[in-house]
Amino acid sequence: MPKIGAVILAAGKGTRLRSQLPKVLHEAGGRTLLEHVLQAARGAGLDAFDIVVVAGYGADRVRERTETWNARWVRQEPQLGTGHAVSQAQPALAGYDTILVLHGDMPLLSAATVRALSTRQLETNAAAVLATAIPGQPLAYGRILRDAANRVMGIVEEKSATPEQRAIRELNAGFYAFRAAALWPALQKIGCDNPHREYYLTDVIALLAQAGEPVETHALSDPDEIMGVNDRRELAVADLRLRRRKRLELMDAGVTIYHPDSVAIDDGVRIGCDTIIEPGAQILGTCRIGDRCRIGAGSILRDCDLEDEVQIFPYSHCVGAWVARDARIGPFARLREGARVETGAHVGNFVELKKTRLGPGSKANHLAYLGDSTIGTGVNIGAGTITCNYDGQAKHPTEIGDGSFIGSNATLVAPLKIGADAYVGAGSVVTETVETGALALGRARQVQKPGWALQKRSARVQAGEAKTAIRDAAGKS
Ligand code: UD1
Ligand code: CA
Repeated sequence: MPKIGAVILAAGKGTRLRSQLPKVLHEAGGRTLLEHVLQAARGAGLDAFDIVVVAGYGADRVRERTETWNARWVRQEPQLGTGHAVSQAQPALAGYDTILVLHGDMPLLSAATVRALSTRQLETNAAAVLATAIPGQPLAYGRILRDAANRVMGIVEEKSATPEQRAIRELNAGFYAFRAAALWPALQKIGCDNPHREYYLTDVIALLAQAGEPVETHALSDPDEIMGVNDRRELAVADLRLRRRKRLELMDAGVTIYHPDSVAIDDGVRIGCDTIIEPGAQILGTCRIGDRCRIGAGSILRDCDLEDEVQIFPYSHCVGAWVARDARIGPFARLREGARVETGAHVGNFVELKKTRLGPGSKANHLAYLGDSTIGTGVNIGAGTITCNYDGQAKHPTEIGDGSFIGSNATLVAPLKIGADAYVGAGSVVTETVETGALALGRARQVQKPGWALQKRSARVQAGEAKTAIRDAAGKS
C-alpha cells in the first residue's frame, strides 16, 4: 500500500487581515480556517498522524487551538515562502510515497477534492497533480502555463506575470498531490528570484515539466473551492459560502429551513430529519439536535444537546444546555451552562436556568431564576420564583422534591431543601428546610382595617367641599 501524507501550510501571518491572530485561526462557518482544511484531509481518509501542519507566525496559538486534531507539527522560522514551508515537512514525511500539499487559508476545500488528487496521482504516477479552476471573476492567483500541446509547463504568480499571462483564466487553486520522489529533490532546486524574494512552491512545477516529468491537472468541480482568505472581505465571503453549503447539506438530509439566508448554522452542528428551523435562528458550536424539533425564530443555540421533538419557541438563548424529548423552551427563555430540562418539562418566557435540572413534566412558565438547583418530577414553579443561590462569596444548592408547588414570587434562599409534595405560599421568603408534604409560609401576615378606605375617601370629599365653599365665599365678598 502506498503511503499518503499531507502538508498543510499554515505559517503565514496574513498581513492583509491586519490582525494579531494568525490568519488560519480566523473563523468562517463556525470553525477556524485551518480546521476546515484538517477536516477535508481527515474526511478524505487520512489518519491524523499522516498530516503535518507547518506553523510559523503564532505557532503556539495555532498548535494550542487545534491540539484535539492530533496532527503532527513542524515549525517554519522564518517564513520564506510556500516552497520553503513544504521543505520543513520533509523529515516528518520521510518514507511517504504521495505528498498532498494543502493551504491552511482555503476553507472551502472538500474531502472529495483531496481524495480525487491523491487517487489521480496514484493512478497516473504523475510527478504532480494540481487542482485548477476557471472562476467567474478575476483573482490574483497563479496562472497555469501550457504549451502548444496543452501540457502544463509551469505556474506564474500574478505579480510576475506579463499582460498576456495575466489574461490566462485557468488558475492554480493551491492544492497539489506530488510523487514524493519527484517533489523533494525539486524543492532543493528552487530559488527566490521574484518580487517577494520568496521560495515559491509553484516554481517546482516548471522544474518538473522541464525534466520531462508528467504534470497533471484536476479541474475543481466546484469553483468555490478555489476561494482563499487573504483579507476580511474574503473572510466574510468564505463564511457566507460555508454556511450556505452547510444549510444545503442539512436540507438534503431532511431538515426544513425557512428563509435560509437568515439562518446561521456552524459546521460542527448535527440536526435530525423533519426538524424545522425558523428564520433568523443561529445554531452554533457543537449543537446536536434530534428529529422533529422546532427551533423558533431568532433563537440562538450554542453547544446544546436536544433530543427528539423538542420545541424552542422564538428568541430563546441556550448555551451548553441539555433538553430531553418533548420539552418546551421559550419564547424568550435563557438556558445557561449545565441546564438540564427533562422529558416534557416547560421553561417559559423570561425564565433563566443555570446548572439546574428541571425534572420530567415540571414547569417554570414565567419570570424565574433557577440556579444550582435540582428540581424533581411534576414540580410547578410559580411566576417570579427566585433561587437566591449566591451569598456574595459562594454558590449554594437548592433541592425541590417531586410534586411540589412553589407559589408565585417565592424567594428560595440557598442552601435549601424542599421535600416532595410540599407547598410554598406565594411571596414567601424561605430560608429553612420544608418537610415533605408541608406548607411553608414565610411572609408578613396580612393586616385588615375594615372601612379604612371608605373613611379616607369621604374625608377627602369633605375636605374638597370645604375648599369650594371658602372659594365661593371669597368670590361673593
Ligand atoms: C499561493 C500560490 C498561488 C495560488 C494561491 C492559491 C505560491 C507561490 N502561490 O499564493 O499560485 O494561486 O496560493 O491560494 O505558492 N505559507 C506558509 N509559509 C510561508 C508562506 C505561506 O506556511 O512562508 C502559507 C500561508 O499561511 C497560506 C499558504 O501558505 O496558508 C499560501 O500562502 P499565501 O501567501 O497566501 O499564497 P498566495 O499569495 O495566496
Ligand atoms: Ca492565499
